[in-house]
Amino acid sequence: MSTDRTHSVAVIGGDGIGPEVVAEALKVVAAAGVRLRTTPYELGAAHYLQTGEVLSDATLDELRAHDAILLGAVGPPVGSSEVPPGLLERGLLLRLRFELDLYVNLRPFTGTPGALAADCDFAVVRENTEGTYAGEGGFLRKGTPHEVATQGSVNTRMGVERCVRFAFELAARRAARRLTLVHKTNVLTFAGDLWQRVVDEVAPQYPGVSCDYNHVDAACIYLVEQPGRYDVVVTDNLFGDILTDLAGAVAGGIGFAASANLNPARTGPSLFEPVHGAAHDIAGTGRANPLAAIRSAAMMLEHLGEHAPAERIGKAVASYISEGPGAQGPPGSPVPSTVAIGDAVAERL
Ligand code: IPM
Ligand code: MN
Repeated sequence: MSTDRTHSVAVIGGDGIGPEVVAEALKVVAAAGVRLRTTPYELGAAHYLQTGEVLSDATLDELRAHDAILLGAVGPPVGSSEVPPGLLERGLLLRLRFELDLYVNLRPFTGTPGALAADCDFAVVRENTEGTYAGEGGFLRKGTPHEVATQGSVNTRMGVERCVRFAFELAARRAARRLTLVHKTNVLTFAGDLWQRVVDEVAPQYPGVSCDYNHVDAACIYLVEQPGRYDVVVTDNLFGDILTDLAGAVAGGIGFAASANLNPARTGPSLFEPVHGAAHDIAGTGRANPLAAIRSAAMMLEHLGEHAPAERIGKAVASYISEGPGAQGPPGSPVPSTVAIGDAVAERL
């Protein structure tokens, strides 16, 4: 049963395959019986090139008023030079994460048949507002032979602790109840020390959760060779960015990977988006896999308190993946279209 509420959702389809996969996600949400009042926002590379707007203060304020934000993908085609590098990343995606205080980037992974990590079931809790992403640094003597470029990593006690606490809460609710801090404490001796101390201090409050630590380079090996050792991984912003691409690849492909940019304190809307990008090369061909967007929408429903529909969508996606006419079939086999996959998931609800 869904609640009888109507949730107000800002929808940023974005560029490339973004609008196509978001349309399927909204179709599945409707089929699950959840009522949304959606407001489309034209943001992204194409919108920037048309209007010069990356994200205005006025648009940001409008976004704040919604219960949640569903985003497809934003970005120009690979190799295009029309949009300056970093403009959309910093000006739109990261700005939303920072301004809306989306301090946890939650990325769950469950293996798909045939994947390297077919049986994996873990979640990465990525700190989403600090680290190297905070933008500390700058140039000195730019463009000269004596140029200096620095890029610092910002780690606050408050920022690390709230992320670590979220990860422990999540681990405590899961069957395996295992938390692994991933960092590089042997080299990043300041930031790593803070992260490890915070984990050590919070751990006694969660006696049912077992704690472990891996260096990030070793974690890359384990993700490939022993992914079953992970349940909840907590890590900093940049390590989390890199690890979740690897995790997506070993779990079956980035086309399945969902993410929730969460403001757990609920001082504003949270943002839900597939991990993949705009994939302009397949936009409009019907070859985009909408499952990551559908899973992201299910995470949105969970956050909005629509637990039963969220679970039903999760099960429908899992059933489609295990029984469906494989989006993950052998090379050369016909792959169902974006719309057909959305339909197939909706039919299973
Ligand atoms: C992601 C993306 C973003 C990030 C980019 C587009 C800014 O790679 O969500 O993982 O680095 O966080
Ligand atoms: Mn990334």
